[in-house]
Amino acid sequence: MNLNIAVLAGDGIGPEVVAQAQKVSDAIAKKYGHTINWTPAITGAAAIDAVGEPYPDATHQICMDSDAVLFGAIGLPRYDNDPSNPVRPEQGLLAMRKKLGLYANIRPTLVFPSLLHKSPLRPELIENADFVCIRELTGGIYFGDKGRNEARDRAWDVCEYTKPEVERIIRLAYSYAMERKKKLTIVDKANVLETSRLWREVGQSLEKEYPEVTTEYLLVDAAAMRIIQWPEGFDVMVTENMFGDILTDEASVISGSMGLMPSASIGLHTSVFEPIHGSYPQATGLNIANPVGTVLSAAMMFEYAFKLMDEAQEIKDVVNKSLAEGIVTEDIAGKDKAYGTAEVGDWLAAQIK
Ligand code: IPM
Ligand code: MN
Repeated sequence: MNLNIAVLAGDGIGPEVVAQAQKVSDAIAKKYGHTINWTPAITGAAAIDAVGEPYPDATHQICMDSDAVLFGAIGLPRYDNDPSNPVRPEQGLLAMRKKLGLYANIRPTLVFPSLLHKSPLRPELIENADFVCIRELTGGIYFGDKGRNEARDRAWDVCEYTKPEVERIIRLAYSYAMERKKKLTIVDKANVLETSRLWREVGQSLEKEYPEVTTEYLLVDAAAMRIIQWPEGFDVMVTENMFGDILTDEASVISGSMGLMPSASIGLHTSVFEPIHGSYPQATGLNIANPVGTVLSAAMMFEYAFKLMDEAQEIKDVVNKSLAEGIVTEDIAGKDKAYGTAEVGDWLAAQIK
C-alpha cells in the first residue's frame, strides 16, 4: 500500500518526537511491504516566523492532499508570555482542526502493566482502567464569539453548540461503545449550562437507538473526581471541547507520564495523529523528550487512517516491550538508566524486523 502522510512537526520537541515515530513507521512499512511518502509542512511558531501565520494555506493543501497527518506539537513561551501578541501558534492548531473538519478527538487512557508503579494513583485503583475520551473538537467555547468592549475591561467567550454538532459526536461515541464494553458516559454541566442541557437532550433522544449500551450522564465536576477515584468505571466518555481538554490532561497522568499518550482527530477530511503532550520548549534539542506518545499516535494512524491492524498492533507491542525492558526516557526512568529520545526510537525501529 502507498501511504501519503503529511508531517507537521511544529515547535519545541515536536520535530524530535516526530522523527522517532517516522523511524518506527518506516520500519513497519518495510516489514509489511508498504511505501510511505512523507511530505513535511510548516506550522506553529515555525510557520509564523517563516510566513507570518501558524497554519499557512500551503500547509493546509498538503494536509488535504495526504491520507493522514502526523503532528508533533505547537507553542512557544515567547508567545505565551505576551497575551497581546496578535498571532499565536495555537491558532494554527485550531485553524487546522476547523479547516480539516476534525470534530472528534479520540484520546485513550492506557495503563501499561510495567508502569503501574509510576502512576500517582495506587496500582489497585488503576490496573483495570481502560477508557477512551471522545472530545468534541470544533465547537463550543473554543470557537464561539469572543471579544472585548471598547474600554477593554470586559471580555467574553461564547459557548455555542448546534444539535447536529452534538448529534454527530454522540453517535460516534456510541459507535465506540458498541465496539467496547458498551457503556457511555456523557459528561456535561447540565445543572448550569444551556449548551449542556442541549447535549443531554440529544443524548436522551439517541439512547433508544443503542439499547445495548448503558448510557449515564455525569456532571463534569463529578467526572473530574471519578477519573481519579474509580477510573475503571469508565468505558467511553464523550464531552464538549473544553471539558474534554481538561479531563484528558487529568486522565493522562493515570498512565504515569503524559508523554506516553496518543490521540487521533477525525472528521470530514484528513485525520490527524498527535501526542497529547505539548511542545515542552525547555527540553528542545536535549534529546530527553519521550517519543512514545507520538509513536503510539503513529500506531493509531495505521489503525484509523489505513485500517492496517497488524501493523498498529506490532507498534503497540514493541512499545510495551520497551517499557517492560526499561528502554525509556528520563520521565519514566526515575533513578534507573535513561535513554535519549533518538535511542528509544532506534531501539523500537530495530525491534521491528
Ligand atoms: C490540546 C491543547 C490545545 C487545546 C491547545 C494547545 C490549543 O491543549 O490539544 O489539548 O486546548 O485544544
Ligand atoms: Mn489540552
